[in-house]
Amino acid sequence: MNWTPEEAVSYYKGQGAPSDQTALTELLREIQREHGGSIPAQLLPRTAELLGTKESFLRAVIRRIPSLRLSDSHLLELCAGPNCPKRRDLAGFVEKTWGKEPKGFTLRYVPCMRMCGKGPNIRWDGTVYNGADEALLRKLIEG
Ligand code: FES
Repeated sequence: MNWTPEEAVSYYKGQGAPSDQTALTELLREIQREHGGSIPAQLLPRTAELLGTKESFLRAVIRRIPSLRLSDSHLLELCAGPNCPKRRDLAGFVEKTWGKEPKGFTLRYVPCMRMCGKGPNIRWDGTVYNGADEALLRKLIEG
């Protein structure tokens, strides 16, 4: 399933997260699945904020559950939906500049982010940027 972080948290809050340990664990597993097998550490502050809990609590839960893994790499998600203008140009720029398996961040292509009119859309460590361009990508990736 392809959720936005807000949708996933909203769903699992409805199931009782963060006080219900089972719902919280399922949310963290869902995030891990969505991100290729590990939870990007950079997503924890926003996830904690959305849940109304502390990042340290989420880290403690992740440490206690052996099947959950944290990744310290940044995460860049590029919309690969059909309606984002210039999405292929941005993808080509990223792959040409930093490679298909870049160091320092994980690159993922995701389906439509449901903000087609504001594209091209990207997500960097869980924060969405509309109207992304090469300058924005350089700023995010190179700091
Ligand atoms: S195609 Fe990119 S947001 Fe819809």
